[in-house]
Amino acid sequence: MTKPKIIMDVDTGTDDAVALTLAMLGGEVDLLGVTTVNGNLELKLTTDNTLRVVDFCGKGEEIKVYSGCEYPLVSTLSPTSAQSLRPIPKREGVKVPFIMHADHLPLPETSLKAQEKRAVVWLIETVMASQPGTVTIVALGPLTNIAAAMRAEPAFASRLQEIVLMGGGDRIGNASAAAEFNIWADPEAAEIVLQSGCKISLIPLDATHEAEVSAAQAAEIEAIGSKEAKFVAEVIRERIGGYSERDPELAAKQTAPLHDALALCYFLHPECITKKIETVCHVDVSGGVCYGRTMVDRRANLVMEEPNCTFALGADREWFLGWLMGILKKAAQG
Ligand code: BDR
Ligand code: CA
Repeated sequence: MTKPKIIMDVDTGTDDAVALTLAMLGGEVDLLGVTTVNGNLELKLTTDNTLRVVDFCGKGEEIKVYSGCEYPLVSTLSPTSAQSLRPIPKREGVKVPFIMHADHLPLPETSLKAQEKRAVVWLIETVMASQPGTVTIVALGPLTNIAAAMRAEPAFASRLQEIVLMGGGDRIGNASAAAEFNIWADPEAAEIVLQSGCKISLIPLDATHEAEVSAAQAAEIEAIGSKEAKFVAEVIRERIGGYSERDPELAAKQTAPLHDALALCYFLHPECITKKIETVCHVDVSGGVCYGRTMVDRRANLVMEEPNCTFALGADREWFLGWLMGILKKAAQG
């Protein structure tokens, strides 16, 4: 059976790292390449972290990494953008929610390098050379690269099979009260992608927080014994620690979401999502307090537009964990 062809666009990032590891170990996808973007960290770090994951999984020969956009299209909100004109004032003692604890993942340094070709150029060449409707982009960071490709090549969106993206929130924000990080970090890019006409599925915070992983489950994963399983367990523990410092509810539960890994899981196994709606979704790009919010239109018959996306609202935690552990166990058995 032929495997689905995907491109992963990432801002690695601990949860991006888990998604990449599962994609490379799982053997369920034909991973055409990986593109990186400014997001969790500045671009050179998201690229280096991505290369480390590829090397760690022993895929350096096979999987090429392309470095993408260094800054958002318009917004200067993100403190990881060197162009930020409006640094976010931090309250003493309050953690900025989306910044990783460390610049680098807990993985060995790598001699792998990103390709010379820039991500947006490679994306356009690769997608335009593909059979129409055969390539899906699994987008796990801000949507800058994808929007830039869409603007540079008007046929880009219609050539794709689908874009599955981790982003947004109907009732939850994490970068601000209104907005989820990936959308908030480049709201204009997200709106371009959402209105592109491409088939789009969003896996937002509403779904990812229903698939949180616990410290006990991290221990089970660690017990699988392979270096990859130990890495995933370490990442989960780090995330639980990070979330615990800033979210009393998650601190009490000792759990953390693995947002990006759930988006990959959905692409391969849509049954991991328990509730989803076909809806109209826009991103607030008006620059106010809701800048970067995904506005899901729930007015039923009053909605004047055709739905532009599938928006997930719930997830099956056990299903997701079973999938994740199944991949790591199988890979450990060789
Ligand atoms: C998203 O933001 C990033 O910090 C994570 O990697 C994930 O893609 C969650 O809001
Ligand atoms: Ca990410």
